[in-house]
Amino acid sequence: MKKNFVLLLSLLLAGSSSLSAAESVRERISINDDWRFQKDDPAEVVGSLDYTKIREWVLPSSAAFLKDPTFLPNRPEGNLAAKVPFTQPGFDDSAWRKLDLPHDWAIEGPFKQEYKGKTGKLNYSGPVWYRKHLTLPASDLGRRIYLDIDGAMSYATVWCNGQFVGGWPYGYSSFRLDLTPYAKLGSDNMLSIRLDNPDNCSRWYPGSGIYRNVWLVKTHAAHVGQWGTVIATPQVSAEAATVAVKVVIANEGTTPTQALVKTRILFAGKPVTEMPTQTVELPASSSAVAAAEVTVAKPQLWDTTTPNRYTAVTAVEVGGKVVDRYETVFGIRSITFTADNGFLLNGKRVQLNGVCNHHDLGALGTAWNTRAAQRQLEILKEMGVNALRTSHNPPAPELLDLCDAMGILVMDESFDSWKIPKVKNGYSSLFDDWYEQDMRALLRRDRNHPSVVMWSIGNEVKELTDDEVGPAMAARLTAIAHEEDPSRPTTLGSNKPEASYNGIQKAVDVMGQNYQRGGYDEFHIKNPAIPLVGSESSSAVSSRGEYFFQTPEQVAARNAATNKPSKRGGKKPTQNQPFEVISSVKTEGRADFQISSYDLYGPGWAILPDQDFAALEKNPHVAGQFVWTGFDYLGEPTPYNADESNLLNFTDSEGKAKMAKDMKELGKIVAPSRSSYFGIVDLAGFKKDRFYLYQAHWRPGLPMAHLLPHWTWPERVGQLVPVFLYTSGDEAELFLNGKSLGRKKKAQYEYRLRWDDVTYAPGELKAVAYKNGKPWATDVVKTAGPATALTLEADRSLIAADRKDLSFVTVTIRDKSGTLVPRSKNLVAFTVSGPGEIVATDNGDATSHASFQSPQIKAYNGLALAIIRATGPGKITVTAKSEGLKDATVLITGR
Ligand code: GAL
Repeated sequence: MKKNFVLLLSLLLAGSSSLSAAESVRERISINDDWRFQKDDPAEVVGSLDYTKIREWVLPSSAAFLKDPTFLPNRPEGNLAAKVPFTQPGFDDSAWRKLDLPHDWAIEGPFKQEYKGKTGKLNYSGPVWYRKHLTLPASDLGRRIYLDIDGAMSYATVWCNGQFVGGWPYGYSSFRLDLTPYAKLGSDNMLSIRLDNPDNCSRWYPGSGIYRNVWLVKTHAAHVGQWGTVIATPQVSAEAATVAVKVVIANEGTTPTQALVKTRILFAGKPVTEMPTQTVELPASSSAVAAAEVTVAKPQLWDTTTPNRYTAVTAVEVGGKVVDRYETVFGIRSITFTADNGFLLNGKRVQLNGVCNHHDLGALGTAWNTRAAQRQLEILKEMGVNALRTSHNPPAPELLDLCDAMGILVMDESFDSWKIPKVKNGYSSLFDDWYEQDMRALLRRDRNHPSVVMWSIGNEVKELTDDEVGPAMAARLTAIAHEEDPSRPTTLGSNKPEASYNGIQKAVDVMGQNYQRGGYDEFHIKNPAIPLVGSESSSAVSSRGEYFFQTPEQVAARNAATNKPSKRGGKKPTQNQPFEVISSVKTEGRADFQISSYDLYGPGWAILPDQDFAALEKNPHVAGQFVWTGFDYLGEPTPYNADESNLLNFTDSEGKAKMAKDMKELGKIVAPSRSSYFGIVDLAGFKKDRFYLYQAHWRPGLPMAHLLPHWTWPERVGQLVPVFLYTSGDEAELFLNGKSLGRKKKAQYEYRLRWDDVTYAPGELKAVAYKNGKPWATDVVKTAGPATALTLEADRSLIAADRKDLSFVTVTIRDKSGTLVPRSKNLVAFTVSGPGEIVATDNGDATSHASFQSPQIKAYNGLALAIIRATGPGKITVTAKSEGLKDATVLITGR
């Protein structure tokens, strides 16, 4: 039987491969290369393409994503923007800039002090145009030709050969347009795409441009529809799993047809089983579903440590010929969110050690790059991360492929706002017209990824406190999610305590509390049957390598300022802060637009990592947390941020008033900050101290110890420099120049060891950590001398020569014995010889306005980064030079 099956399979494969691609199966062709780009509209446009004017033209593009498309306006007769030259095939665009996608034009800057910090001090708004020539062979006759855009920021409108095709406004949604009626076969075709990112449309840097991949998909008239497979694993055990496959077959042809649908399941390229063949009748312009179930014996389960994936290969046969072949990667696993015991993966509890990330990739901006995202995830996994929240929008599809492959559990999020705006031109202006389509597009695209374990229907939406609209809308979005994917729960991120009790908590499957708003323990008492997750946590802030100390005079001056009599002459109660070398007031620890890295600081609503750990240990019913944020991101440089949406986070009037005052003052100062301080890892991908605080807790089996601060304080000889140790051990002894400064043990709910009374002397600080009484890990920090040399280190020395793969090269400023010089800011110039180029540079300094495209960059606290790609095969030499320091080189091979 097995033999016959293999024979059948090879016949099937042989049979189809003998057909030429054009007459048989689908093609999916990357069309990222060779576009022309131009900013601004031609004079003919003047307001004629604003959303209100194009609404009835673009909405019909989304018909397939509405349960009831009858409410859609009819597309007007004729052509949109017929007179606009940029849409015309004959228009001469030879003077336009030539570039490849994915492309984020806004990241090129320049940064400007007068631009808002919340969106990265970059301009990202205004219309832009992209054009591309496409040759379509005559042999495409009879095929459907689709344009698949994974993401374009934003309000995309598309023309083919001067004819309006359609569009999609939400910049984070992936969408498909049918080019078939407009395409000219056997000749050149012109695609023109206009984007129009509005000003004030985001609370963070949104990026701008066709920033994700773009594809041309060619199919037979009868084919697997867009995102047309739904694979679920309703029963899973070590012995057997049920795999249920639904395939939506579309017939876009004008004649009725009958199709046979066969789905085989492969593991590691080898056939495992096959679904019973289904026959579907397809009238002209229709679609039908073929559904089947099969049992997989002894399944290789997907989990966070062994992320096994299967592939379902669906073949569609018409008239005895295979006309489409479609692959779906999926995993066999079961997921359950419980009210008492958190999250279960394959029946076993897995604590969600998650982070939230925004979608930019630091110096690369938002232009999608798989290696850059993979590097982020690798660094996060090293810290112990097993979960990611795609805050606050649908991610690039490849991010989920990475999470599938790396065993990372995903909270896949839809929106940052519903109908009530947070920023003037945000998603709220599209919500009524588009929420159903955007939600269904997200669900259909992402529902086969084993990594995705829940759908978030929104983040901190303002409707949370509206007892009528809030629960009703949450129920509506949950219903949509269940229709498209009954296998996963919905959740949301709530920053309002009320929403844990006003009915919202019942309208989602898993309640999500941001910053424990609503109370983990109280929630469980009042909602004993509802699962709970810490959908957003911490929001601690720090700058890598910065440590700030106070003098008694500074504290006295602050006390005096706080206790000034009010203007009306009334006396305020005295609020004296005692003198401490490092402030333990959460909203302090600030200087020079940086934040001290003693990890005690955050805005008023922040919760220190230690407090989050304790809350979760005390509340094992909670599934875990998603820390704000894993990586620093462009924009939202709280607390140096005059963004009014900061105030959304406060529930206490005192905290809110203080923030409002800080923001007002900042408004006068104009902070230079252009990226966040929330990241556990900085914008360049360098670890902050906090990385080790999380690693110590999330990877208890990994022997590790991390001391802070650095030990180069010539100005503090004889003064106190508190020392912290983050270790997965439970006890540690600290030594300064060989002399013990005492052994300390972590108490229950204590996650860091502190020696607050260390008198600084240059030399060597050493910690020896113990676990269960046995030596476990050590760390040493040494006083650095003057900088003498650079060193270079490439994260990968062999990269693909495909212009996409990247090597991240770190330069370190060192003294003569090789110790990193902690506060060094030397200017470093990178050069490249051989078939490679510098894509971007960065140093992780949130206040830097240096161009990311510059080959020169100042080190920030001893480190800087150059991102290199290969332009062809061969040896690439990267050299770093800095005045007065010894050069360094590193070799990378492009292959
Ligand atoms: C949250 C919000 C995030 C971010 C964060 C900063 O309330 O959901 O998007 O703004 O605050 O602390």
